[in-house]
Amino acid sequence: MTAPRPLIAGNWKMYGLGPALEEGLKVAAAIADAPPRARTALCVPATLVERMARAVAGSALIVGGEDLHPEASGAHTGDISGEMLQDAGARMVIIGHSERRAAYGESDALVAAKTRAALRAGLEPVICVGETLAEREAGRTLDIICGQVKASVPAEVSGSAFAVAYEPVWAIGTGLTPTLAQIEEAHVALRAALVESLGEAGRTAPILYGGSVKPSNAAEILQAREVGGALVGGASLKAADFLAIVRAAD
Ligand code: PGA
Repeated sequence: MTAPRPLIAGNWKMYGLGPALEEGLKVAAAIADAPPRARTALCVPATLVERMARAVAGSALIVGGEDLHPEASGAHTGDISGEMLQDAGARMVIIGHSERRAAYGESDALVAAKTRAALRAGLEPVICVGETLAEREAGRTLDIICGQVKASVPAEVSGSAFAVAYEPVWAIGTGLTPTLAQIEEAHVALRAALVESLGEAGRTAPILYGGSVKPSNAAEILQAREVGGALVGGASLKAADFLAIVRAAD
């Protein structure tokens, strides 16, 4: 059996105006010239989803959103549904990023509801989990992340494409990364938790590492046990850096 293709997904967060589309175009052109081993995605602000999807239409670059509302439509001023993202050209969506869990109090139950909504809309969910520094220092990392994964990834994902992203909160945007041993320990535990709660479906879904991934550390992280790709924040904003990470998975 051939190993599943890794997934390298960018997370632009709240960065990017019209001119940033150029970076997406560069990524799309480069992966058309030399198809990488990894599936390659850029999750961009909602305002850019449709323009990015149009700009890279026909390329292998997957365009994604960064959040969605659990319902398909309704009186939810300012929110965006999975169906709307899909209508705009998205094929993927990040769910439960720690920035949203912290800033908006998103619970595991809400993340699970959003994951069901993504599946309903035909989007591939990338469900994020991760411990805070205080939780790591208290020796609670594996309990926290395995608890999050069991409560945030609903059984309905079985049979659909989905990914989990392990993003230690203290490693996001800080330049700090866990040791390889810490990454492997977390990913192996997450794999066991996924298999325990989902059975066979939990065996193959990629578990991405996220948190200060950059061209200089990507190759090492990507070859770690049970690391099936990367979720890349800051380094996904520039095509050259992002492509170097995509190539690190070749
Ligand atoms: P970072 O962000 O790569 O800038 O640390 C990762 C993320 O938040 O997904």
